[in-house]
Amino acid sequence: MPFTHRHLIDTEALSRADIEIILDRAAGYAEQNRSKNKKNDKFNGKTSVNLFFEDSTRTRTSFEIAAKRLGMDTVCVPVAQSSISKGETLLDTALNLDAMQIDTLILRHTQDDAAQLVSARVKAHVINAGNGKRAHPTQALLDAMAILRRRGSLDNLTVAICGDIARSRVARSNIRLFKKFGADVRVIAPDYFMSDDFNALGVGIHTDLKSGIAGADAIIMLRIQHERDGLGIDFSKVAQNYISDFQLDHEKLKAAKPDALVLHPGPVNRGVELTDELADDPEHSVILEQVELGVAVRMAVIDLLLSQD
Ligand code: CP
Repeated sequence: MPFTHRHLIDTEALSRADIEIILDRAAGYAEQNRSKNKKNDKFNGKTSVNLFFEDSTRTRTSFEIAAKRLGMDTVCVPVAQSSISKGETLLDTALNLDAMQIDTLILRHTQDDAAQLVSARVKAHVINAGNGKRAHPTQALLDAMAILRRRGSLDNLTVAICGDIARSRVARSNIRLFKKFGADVRVIAPDYFMSDDFNALGVGIHTDLKSGIAGADAIIMLRIQHERDGLGIDFSKVAQNYISDFQLDHEKLKAAKPDALVLHPGPVNRGVELTDELADDPEHSVILEQVELGVAVRMAVIDLLLSQD
């Protein structure tokens, strides 16, 4: 079955077959990335532009490396020094970059529908690199690939997602992906980090970590996103209770399957979401494997989009 999407906006629009095509293509790139020559010239002469309105280490670098390893020229727009500071809108900025005959536009933005809006107006392939609280599709794809590598299959897993659920685009994109593979997905958070829209996503809602991770194959721990809206709480006042109830450590992890995987999209708030011992435990933690596979997944996505031209 061919991959026919022009843009990657969210996992919602991807079928199970689409996801399998992406992960299969990414598997080849993961091998290439571990070989002596990490680069091919498949898309020589094409141009990829990163337009990031929010800070990023992993996603921005990963997309730039991915495009370079496919032979593309890459540009990262320095948003703080761009004409956005003079009041130029997101759409005008995107249209002007598009006029330079670019091939892929990788967009991170605070607005939930930014990638959707831009994709309707530009010729370049738009890849959502994280928009607002709604979607971060390549993060979900790389999370799935990290789990697939260790588990051998994505079918019918129990996946727990814990932490700052309300403000998490990672949670929303992962739920939409894993539900396509028959997963039992649970979200775990104190009331102040929960949001009503999760009721419609077909997930189990838990306010207790132990019951939420019971029998889990994989646990995705989420970063507390202090840079987003405050949700009406002063986290410094509840931090100790949060750590006591929701920080994942080896003791609490015993409620999950003995070989449960622990994921985190990064950046990790060390000492808050999970203990250092667990974050750095190669038996359970796949955090750096997620980062490695992120490059391969982004190469696969760029490849599949550009191959339609
Ligand atoms: N996981 C993730 O999106 O990390 P960055 O914010 O560093 O890109």
